[in-house]
Amino acid sequence: MNYFTEDRSPDVVNARMTEVSSPRLHRVMTSLVEHLHAFIKDVELTEPEWEAAIDFLTRTGQICTDTRQEFILLSDVLGVSMLVDAINNRVPDGATETTVFGPFHVEGAPEREMGANISLDGKGETCLFEGRVLDLHGNPVEDALVSVWSDNEDGFYDVQQPGIQPAFNNRGIFRTGPDGRYAFRGVKPVSYPIPDDGPVGGMLAALGRHPWRPAHMHFMITANGYRRVITHIFVAGDPYLVSDAVFGVKQSLIVPFEKVDRPTESWRAHFDFVLCRTDAEGRPGH
Ligand code: BEZ
Ligand code: FE
Repeated sequence: MNYFTEDRSPDVVNARMTEVSSPRLHRVMTSLVEHLHAFIKDVELTEPEWEAAIDFLTRTGQICTDTRQEFILLSDVLGVSMLVDAINNRVPDGATETTVFGPFHVEGAPEREMGANISLDGKGETCLFEGRVLDLHGNPVEDALVSVWSDNEDGFYDVQQPGIQPAFNNRGIFRTGPDGRYAFRGVKPVSYPIPDDGPVGGMLAALGRHPWRPAHMHFMITANGYRRVITHIFVAGDPYLVSDAVFGVKQSLIVPFEKVDRPTESWRAHFDFVLCRTDAEGRPGH
């Protein structure tokens, strides 16, 4: 009889699978059970620890709402989101690197005129963000949609402060012309803590970890025939670059923000995005 024993525990569990709906599900679940059992044996999990883990996961689910996704936050602070991103977005040298999506993107942001200011609350120092969308050979990509979003001067996204910030504050979509150029104005990004008043924040505190993210602007670039790029640019010199709570920083995404003295802005950041085609180009390892 294939009764459960400590020694054979993952094999006994995995042997119960019969007609698994797909080979991939079989592979993923078999590996999950093996690693989970190995982890529990490695740390010799106690019963109070098991209860604490169940309680933690229960609270993580209970705090989730339409605008708060604590499980994604958990994935982010454990480095899981960045690992999934790395595995799924390998790009050749020269292509723009991706980073964590984060929970604050929303559908339906307005397409704005090139050069428009996305900061609708009038707070913060104005920064001009500009550059080009290019292919791997340096050619401009026309009709690329450059979707951007950021926190405001107080470190909050509009969706975190409904009724306080205007809808779609610090959000917008810009369409490139034949020269591939994009330009918009927004607030110079400020660093902010990820939501830390829930179970994930409690876990960070228990581990002696801070919840801060370095100042950044989010970008999502889409264009027909090219792979979508979800990334940020980070403000060079930010003290949290080396300890981002969600491990999102990559050297190639750190940008010097230049102080300027113009009527329309006091800062300027320049960054060119380089896209890979959707065919085999740019999928090393796939
Ligand atoms: C963000 O950059 O918006 C973000 C990313 C991960 C967790 C929380 C916030
Ligand atoms: Fe962010």
